Amino acid sequence: MWAVIYIFAGRTKKLFNVDIFEKIAKRPGKLGQYMDKAHGYYMFPKLEGELSSRMIFMGKERLVWSLNNYLGLGNLPEVRAADAQAAKDWGLAYPMGARMMSGQTSYHEKLEQELAGFVGRESAYLLNYGYQGMVSIIDSLVDRNDVIVYDSEAHACILDGMRLHFGKRFVYPHNDMENLDKELERATKLTAKTGGGILVITEGVYGMSGDLGNLKGIVALKGKYNFRLLVDDAHGLGTMGRDGSGTDMHYGVRDQVDLYFSTFAKSMAGIGAFIAGPKEIIRFLMYNMRSQVYAKSLPMPMVIGALKRLEIIRTQPEHREKLWRIVNALQKGLKEHGFNLGKTESPVTPVILPGGVPEATQITHDLRENFDIFCSIVSYPVVPKGVILLRLIPTAMHTMEDVNYTIESFAEIKKKLDAGSYSSGMIEKMVVE
Ligand SMILES: Cc1ncc(COP(=O)(O)O)c(C=O)c1O
Repeated sequence: MWAVIYIFAGRTKKLFNVDIFEKIAKRPGKLGQYMDKAHGYYMFPKLEGELSSRMIFMGKERLVWSLNNYLGLGNLPEVRAADAQAAKDWGLAYPMGARMMSGQTSYHEKLEQELAGFVGRESAYLLNYGYQGMVSIIDSLVDRNDVIVYDSEAHACILDGMRLHFGKRFVYPHNDMENLDKELERATKLTAKTGGGILVITEGVYGMSGDLGNLKGIVALKGKYNFRLLVDDAHGLGTMGRDGSGTDMHYGVRDQVDLYFSTFAKSMAGIGAFIAGPKEIIRFLMYNMRSQVYAKSLPMPMVIGALKRLEIIRTQPEHREKLWRIVNALQKGLKEHGFNLGKTESPVTPVILPGGVPEATQITHDLRENFDIFCSIVSYPVVPKGVILLRLIPTAMHTMEDVNYTIESFAEIKKKLDAGSYSSGMIEKMVVE
């Protein structure tokens, strides 16, 4: 605490303020509260060795179900070769500058054209990161007169984009079409007064629960209300639809989804993202998205590497077919063993168990140490109190042996959980080097 004494017109005034660093030391944040106990084990774990379904964690090989490398492209020799060649030819610096100023290349344009073609849109625009891109898309699309209507389980990048929005935002409970109808009615009345428009935002595949955004239900409301629809299909690109071109293809509603967004961070096993839609809207975004106007262009190896990945997704359906064989076997086997997988319809496989943070940490520990299985675990506040979610991400790199071993191991974990063996707080006891 600091005190500054002012003497003004013969009167003294004392002003107090805190030191920001001192404040942070006392309030480490929702996840930060575990940093002393969990760093390196539950949080910021190091997975070492080749990117694969088996990697080294704390010196020992584990079966990994945590990587969004759905199609296994991350380590495919031809992808690695394309990445290495592009790095050799161009380095990481090229091009220097923002796209608008000095960072434009024909490779960037080619990738945009190919992405647009793949997802069936007129145009596409590259983004450096999905998260930043989404924030900036929302910021540039709407003004204070417009209303955003969004799903309650929307990803952090959508929520953070809305923080920049000066107009109203209405939320509807996850995939609840009756409530969406009500919110759209409310938004319609409001925008009739403000002279604004309505933007609805949903995800294609919800990355925690694996269920799909109800795109069919949402587009059906277009007959009743005047709105534009933006879909974040981070987990749907490469995995959903008969050709892997996304959840709108899966539902057959492509022409009703006005803007399609996805990232290269999942199936494309890279970095970067894109937005696709009508030519004039993409042009508008190119000239108005602050995350791109004021940031350096994606480096060449990312762009050339993404071109290679897209070519493989389009021409080698065997990776997606393999992924779905693994997904179907894993989900079927877990369900047969009595596990609750919620409403997943995608590769994302949530295993929903009763329990709190202490059980969650002990189960994770048991899985990692005694079964050599590494998967992500989610507990309150990300999921409701009393629920643990073990999230498995099947990929084309997994084998049927991996699937069978995992199902058997999970059956043992469930027995222990049901018998109450995981009741005390392991996170308190754990010593993490
Ligand atoms: C639904 C969703 N949108 C956006 C992003 C952000 O993408 P990026 O990792 O490219 O920033 C993610 C996570 O990666 C995501 O799951």
